[in-house]
Amino acid sequence: MLNGAALVARLDAERSGGADREELFRKAVEGIEAASDRYDWVGVYLLDGDELVLGPYVGAETDHTRISVGRGVCGTAVAEDRNLNVSDVRALDNYIACSIHTRSEIVVLIRDARGVVRGQLDLDSDLEAAFNDEDEVELGRVAGWLGTLFSPS
Ligand code: SME
Repeated sequence: MLNGAALVARLDAERSGGADREELFRKAVEGIEAASDRYDWVGVYLLDGDELVLGPYVGAETDHTRISVGRGVCGTAVAEDRNLNVSDVRALDNYIACSIHTRSEIVVLIRDARGVVRGQLDLDSDLEAAFNDEDEVELGRVAGWLGTLFSPS
């Protein structure tokens, strides 16, 4: 299980050591991916206008480097201003497949100090219903910390 507080402590140390935002995003997705065998793809998308733009990720290469707000699980989370935990992506009409093996997906939003959405953590699993409330809480700790890397909009 991911220990969000422990990862945040490591990220804090990296930040104090001078790591820039891109490096910190990379360390975050690597740290998350290493925490559980259930996490098959872990990435950061950053909001740029009405598009999500792919940042650092761990897992299979994806064509979906830009996703419009409102499209797919990622874009829907932004449009609805909430985290999404989808236990079976095959049940969705509005799903953008990155891998034919993916069965479940969780999106946890990254917000700045004003609560404005700046991006998201996106995780895919090849297992159905791979993500539970504890995953969302722990990922939320990391997303909360990543939100501090943005100056308030
Ligand atoms: N499945 C996502 C697209 C991103 S990939 O999972 C990396 C979606 O439906 O928005």
